[in-house]
Amino acid sequence: MSGIKPQQQTFDKSLVRQSFGSASSSYNQFTALQRTIGDQLLQQQENLPSNQGKVLDIGAGTGYLTEKIIGSNKLDELYALDIAPEMLRQTRLNVTAVKPLTLLCADAEDLPLAAETVTAVYSNVAYQWCSRLALAFAEARRVLQENGVFAFSTFGERTLYELKDAWAEADNAVHVNSFFDADSIRQYLIAAGFQDVSVLSEDIVMYYETPKQLMMDLKGMGAHNINPGRNHGLTGVSAFKKMLAAYEGLRTEQGIPATFQALYGYARK
Ligand SMILES: C[S@@+](CC[C@H](N)C(=O)[O-])C[C@H]1O[C@@H](n2cnc3c(N)ncnc32)[C@H](O)[C@@H]1O
Repeated sequence: MSGIKPQQQTFDKSLVRQSFGSASSSYNQFTALQRTIGDQLLQQQENLPSNQGKVLDIGAGTGYLTEKIIGSNKLDELYALDIAPEMLRQTRLNVTAVKPLTLLCADAEDLPLAAETVTAVYSNVAYQWCSRLALAFAEARRVLQENGVFAFSTFGERTLYELKDAWAEADNAVHVNSFFDADSIRQYLIAAGFQDVSVLSEDIVMYYETPKQLMMDLKGMGAHNINPGRNHGLTGVSAFKKMLAAYEGLRTEQGIPATFQALYGYARK
């Protein structure tokens, strides 16, 4: 695994569960980005055969991708798995397709399924919350049947670089998550034993009226700052103002830009 970047942060799982749990009822107002990435994930996967048998959706959230997977495949059963029970309650409410749906409240790094039980593992923008990606990918491979398909999206290293740069002008605390680059993701997949590995990248730039609005959106989608290196007291007013001023310097005619680098990973067992 030479050149592979080590995990840059370790998240407290109970805080991840809490953040997404509290965002679960309002989450759907903030998810245009996740939906766009989820649609792309499935579209780009078109050259893979449609799935039958049992399929797993990791980090199912409120069930957007779950519903799409059910609609586009002839499944026997779909497992929707999430670390936050409140999210799974939303999945249950939102997924209307009449197909067997099993909700699993569990961690992507420790899947509660026997080896070789599913024909495909999907995941839309959840792996950026996994502190041990090597373990998470090994788990996905373990539960897949021979030749099974793994298709997921996550965020890449350029994600929120404008916000990160603006905070760097203000203080030394960690305000924004770090994300892996495409090459590290590819290497983690190969190291886990996957074949036919490909990782595609796409920069999606969203525009906001103000930096504060971006930060409110991030909270609304459950992406609180729970980094170990965060400032545990209140961030000072002057640091916050410095960050806002630095970000304002990037304003364009469309508004305040925020880059999200979507990475799409495809592989086979
Ligand atoms: C950004 S949301 C994406 C939800 C959904 N896939 C979608 O496309 O809208 C990320 C989801 O991953 C879940 N999650 C975060 N860490 C997880 C972990 N270690 N294991 C399982 N789920 C996790 C969160 O609770 C949240 O519901």
